[in-house]
Amino acid sequence: PALAYRLEAARAVVHDAARLAMSMRPPPGGPQAALKSAQDWLTETDGAVEAFIAQRMQALFPDDGFMGEEGGTTRSGSLRWVVDPIDGTSNYARGRCRWCVSLGLMDGDEPVAGVIDAPALGEVYTALRGHGAFLNGRPIQASSVADPTRAMIEMGWSGRVPKPVFMDKMDAIMELGAMPRSGGCGALALADVASGRLDGYIEIVINLWDVAAALPLLMEAGARVSPFLRDGGLTGGATILAANPHIADQLAQAVAIPLE
Ligand code: IPD
Repeated sequence: PALAYRLEAARAVVHDAARLAMSMRPPPGGPQAALKSAQDWLTETDGAVEAFIAQRMQALFPDDGFMGEEGGTTRSGSLRWVVDPIDGTSNYARGRCRWCVSLGLMDGDEPVAGVIDAPALGEVYTALRGHGAFLNGRPIQASSVADPTRAMIEMGWSGRVPKPVFMDKMDAIMELGAMPRSGGCGALALADVASGRLDGYIEIVINLWDVAAALPLLMEAGARVSPFLRDGGLTGGATILAANPHIADQLAQAVAIPLE
């Protein structure tokens, strides 16, 4: 009950945060946002949404820890919230629709619950370990596509990854005969794997805040996921591969990313 109560509270707070992000949304095309580094964008909304969520969650659950992409970290209790205020910032900054507010809950090193709210798409994903994964309140499940020539696989990219490394994995995906995609929002791509809209997602270096809310979704939806947390994801950027269980082994082998 304590976790279910927290998920419900998180859903409500993220809903309000997503509305705040919508109200600050730039028009199509700009204006130009600031850069943290080449192709790594920062908008005023990132900071405002993180501060909003931090304040609301800390008022509700003062003993819980908190970690945010934009640096808002407090002491970590055994329960810890992990927020990406805007995942898909480059899309958001251009006025595109594919971005979300992502809030995950960890119990120690275990992802236990998550909310991903994509207000420009009208979609909210929720998951609680042991209780299923949902899109707008309806249960979701990973796809059953086993034939790579019918599969759609997304790969995420950031400036943290050298071009040859990215191209090498992308090449392997296309060699398998799968349809490659790249949508610019890691959390929503992982949610797409959970809902069966994608058959797999790979990113060579991704951070905890991008995946914390998606991990419980993937687990509850029956997807296979590489050991991101064990591979360094708790303390820095690490590799993730998530896929439907029918194609996961073949994909993992093709791109040389171990699943176990
Ligand atoms: C980024 C997006 C992108 C992924 C990057 C992330 P941000 O998050 O999720 O799709 O490829 O690794 O950093 O900066 O928009 O929160």
